[in-house]
Amino acid sequence: MIRTLFSKEEIARKVEELGRKISRDYEGKTLTVIALLNGGLPFTADLIRHISIPVFLDSFAASSYVDDRSSKKLTVRSRLKEPVEGRHILLVDDILDTGHSLAATVEYFRKMAPASIKTCVFLDKKLDAPKPVSADYTGYEVENVYVVGYGLDSHELYRNLPFVGVVEND
Ligand code: IMP
Ligand code: MG
Repeated sequence: MIRTLFSKEEIARKVEELGRKISRDYEGKTLTVIALLNGGLPFTADLIRHISIPVFLDSFAASSYVDDRSSKKLTVRSRLKEPVEGRHILLVDDILDTGHSLAATVEYFRKMAPASIKTCVFLDKKLDAPKPVSADYTGYEVENVYVVGYGLDSHELYRNLPFVGVVEND
């Protein structure tokens, strides 16, 4: 059974609010929105429909791992459609957990000399440990529990749920 944490309606309201805020913050500019795959896909798809300024849409697939010297490495599985040099980019992901993936992704994009780089996550997990990056836009904070739905998976399942919840054994 899955216990709902954020309903479809709550998600819709929050995404609309974030879209309005982003549109205000980037007024007069064109924004390159980059969906971080696969988790950031449903959120990005909803979010861009609430952004009223011109948007370029792209996507990026990568995962981070810690090498033997305990530095963060990024395994990149995709390429961008267009170079982002000189562009305002917004990286969109499902959840900020330890923050290692997003921090490594931000560093990767920074090297491409964008005009600006910001991040937007639907969920931010409350952890005791400090995070290497904090998101510029956050939908909701969530307790330190494993959540699924709205892009978030457990062994690649549940990404298609229209709500966010916790898997419970019944
Ligand atoms: P981080 O590098 O620890 O911030 O991990 C980020 C990635 O781990 C997210 O983009 C998710 O793909 C995954 N992740 C972290 N927490 C959860 C969760 O509660 N449910 C599903 N995926 C998660
Ligand atoms: Mg992810």
